[in-house]
Amino acid sequence: MPEEERFVQQAPLVGEHEEPSLRPQLLSQYIGQEGIKQNLSIFINAAKLREEPLDHVLLYGPPGLGKTTLASIIANEMGVQLRTTSGPALEKSGDLAAVLTSLQPGDVLFIDEIHRLPRAIEEVLYPAMEDFCLDIIIGKDETARSIRLDLPPFTLVGATTRAGSLSAPLRDRFGVTERLDYYTFAELAYIAKRTAELFDIEMEEAAAEQIARRSRGTPRITNRLVKRVRDFAQVIGNGHIDAAIANQALDALNVDELGLDAIDRRLLLGMIEKFRGGPVGLDTIAAAIGEESPTIEEMYEPYLMQIGFLQRTPRGRMVTPAVYSYFKMEVPQHDRHV
Ligand SMILES: Nc1ncnc2c1ncn2[C@@H]1O[C@H](COP(=O)(O)OP(=O)(O)OP(=O)(O)O)[C@@H](O)[C@H]1O
Ligand SMILES: [Mg+2]
Repeated sequence: MPEEERFVQQAPLVGEHEEPSLRPQLLSQYIGQEGIKQNLSIFINAAKLREEPLDHVLLYGPPGLGKTTLASIIANEMGVQLRTTSGPALEKSGDLAAVLTSLQPGDVLFIDEIHRLPRAIEEVLYPAMEDFCLDIIIGKDETARSIRLDLPPFTLVGATTRAGSLSAPLRDRFGVTERLDYYTFAELAYIAKRTAELFDIEMEEAAAEQIARRSRGTPRITNRLVKRVRDFAQVIGNGHIDAAIANQALDALNVDELGLDAIDRRLLLGMIEKFRGGPVGLDTIAAAIGEESPTIEEMYEPYLMQIGFLQRTPRGRMVTPAVYSYFKMEVPQHDRHV
């Protein structure tokens, strides 16, 4: 079943064109994720001083927070080429061997969705990551023999939205592991203003704040909102983005002041009306609102938990009192004092 598209989804929309010009090229242009930037900057400088490739880096976190962007920044900062592939694109071990043998010394090999790498190919990757070599089997049956090929030293950057689905041996072979987190409103407002500037359009501070609040902690959504607000400003307004035109556009897109849409509201209201706010099991919620459990777990819940609307407990999911005030409802007796 194809998943329903949502304007506020963190993954790209079908046909969405992500302007390469909006992608920061250097660490200094990358907004937020301060801890990651600090670490990477030290590791990159140290590797350059020693004239060694950077250790392998694993980046994980929800969609649209800047993993791919960081991978290309790492290559830029190291002054090497970036080669990009993805877990599902590497079907046979030969596919990986072809990529590895075409690398130049020091290159960054970016494997997106690395949790989807087939297990047999993972095993080819282990000696490549550890010793920069490739074991190839030549011939069949009793004439089969293994030869070892040397590879140029390289840096593997892996990205995944689900670190938990990565096998332990693969995870352990990364020297650096960094988790990206949702952005603050201030960081997103800064990203909105930077995007407006790159689009050569004026944006008031108050408008940037409105966009930030509705971005669900995600720069990809910020950029999407800036584009749509720009349309409104150019067609209905005077080309200048002020708070009034931003609000008008955001309301027309049905994104409320917390970045929630009709689907979030249906989920939360369903939990209140059908299950007294929980605790209720994920599969039960899924059946009640006609969605699939993994979709709820991966696409709806993370942000609702991030804003403190939903809790995962051993007995199931629960809405928090904040949800009742969001719907302007009384917190039921059984939920008070918890
Ligand atoms: N720190 C940042 N500062 C400014 N813009 C950013 C930042 N991080 C991401 N962006 C913008 O958000 C967009 C999405 O980022 P990116 O493609 O790197 O996300 P991702 O984590 O790789 O997502 P996915 O999991 O879907 O692959 C980029 O095109 C970029 O313009
Ligand atoms: Mg990506």
